[in-house]
Amino acid sequence: MSMDKSPITLDINNLMADVVGYPYGLTVDQIDSMADRAKAAYDAINANRGKGWLGWTELPYNQDDILDDIEAAADYIRNEFDAFVVLGIGGSALGPIAVQQALNHMHYNQLPREKRGGPKFYVEDNIDPERMKALFDVIDVKKTCFNVITKSGATAETMSQYLIISTALKEALGDDWTKHLVATTSKEKGNLIRLALEHNFKLFYIPESVGGRFSELCPVGLLPAAVCGIDIRAMLEGAKAMDKRLKSPLLWENMALLEATIQFLLTEEKGINIHVVMPYADSLKYMADWFCQLWAESLGKNVTRKGMAVNVGQTPVKSLGVTDQHSQLQLYTEGPYDKVVTFIHVGKYRETVEIPEGCYEYPNVSFLGGKTLNELINAEYLGTQYALLRSGRVSQTIRIPVVNAYSIGQLIYFFEMVTAYLGELLDIDAYNQPGVEESKIAAYAMLGNTEEKYQNKYKEMASAPKGLKKYLL
Ligand code: PA5
Repeated sequence: MSMDKSPITLDINNLMADVVGYPYGLTVDQIDSMADRAKAAYDAINANRGKGWLGWTELPYNQDDILDDIEAAADYIRNEFDAFVVLGIGGSALGPIAVQQALNHMHYNQLPREKRGGPKFYVEDNIDPERMKALFDVIDVKKTCFNVITKSGATAETMSQYLIISTALKEALGDDWTKHLVATTSKEKGNLIRLALEHNFKLFYIPESVGGRFSELCPVGLLPAAVCGIDIRAMLEGAKAMDKRLKSPLLWENMALLEATIQFLLTEEKGINIHVVMPYADSLKYMADWFCQLWAESLGKNVTRKGMAVNVGQTPVKSLGVTDQHSQLQLYTEGPYDKVVTFIHVGKYRETVEIPEGCYEYPNVSFLGGKTLNELINAEYLGTQYALLRSGRVSQTIRIPVVNAYSIGQLIYFFEMVTAYLGELLDIDAYNQPGVEESKIAAYAMLGNTEEKYQNKYKEMASAPKGLKKYLL
């Protein structure tokens, strides 16, 4: 059957004042008053496509040769190995996790090999020692391929994992250890590229102009996806189709520009500082995680590009429908008016499950019989949307016709473009992460790295205020 290539859509009804009520929602006039600033944001992105940190805008167009190489490597890995393990963190892990969860069987690793078609898939995106040990209990390193992903080639978490895994591989395989490693990294800098060239690992490059959290559509995400049998060309095609829909500088004709403007206004005008992303699909649970990193790390900044203090950025929160209706929704409907909820609604689930008739003596149970779980989850989404509307809480819906490689490509590119436009509107650098770097340097300093900057940080940390005993209970 051919893949559904319907467009994803954005429904902003429930955050407009004439629907959700004034003063909660935005007016068309408020949005239109942003037309010039939005156009300037559009022009800035458009003029710099592919340059600086905007290399991700071109990924749907410029990877033809790389795709052949990725698919060939993925075929080899699918045939030769029982497990494929990604070692990476942040932007080098969240995309692969999200796409795998969205597009493969919910219990992919538990399926028999013939149904899976490829190796089991793991992403080690933390350095919890218990988890690292646990990995060795479920894989056989002799039959496992490890994909070390780090753009900088210097991230302590990933490089520690590399040391652990390469040592285990050497012990198990002798000289053949290098055949079990694939490196995905910068061509220009870092330690991983040097190690990869020295030991002749299979190599994929992360373009210099593509930052970690914008890297899902380059080999960072494409190789793991292809190894799991995902149609990566359809993903890129979806991203391209989305890009083509974002060609207008006019707010009401460019859904990403409109969305960025809306989020800007919600914060500025309505004090909405929290952005809840709530997919009504388990398959999209980790897309919400991926979104949270993109939003938080790109837009949470303390200065403008000219160095003016601002402290901006909505706090992203992941939520899952319907699960979190039973944990978070009470707060969303009755707590502070500081949140916007973005539902991700699926038009057609890939499965239909009927609820059997029964329990006739219990009318509150028996009324469910003869319906489907699909109808139930849809009714719960509509119910939640209504509950928010009724309490004057703003929400919007991104509608995905069906979850497939094409729609996921659209969704990823859409969120990336919204983030880029919003970065422009806020006049911040959406591509750096000084707050994260600070914690990395502090950790390296404590571990005794002898490089000067770490030594200096160590000294600085020694003079930081000491904790007081009276506060230790
Ligand atoms: O978005 C980012 O740049 C970060 O989240 C990085 O992806 C993360 O810190 C990992 O960096 P690296 O790929 O260099 O190991």
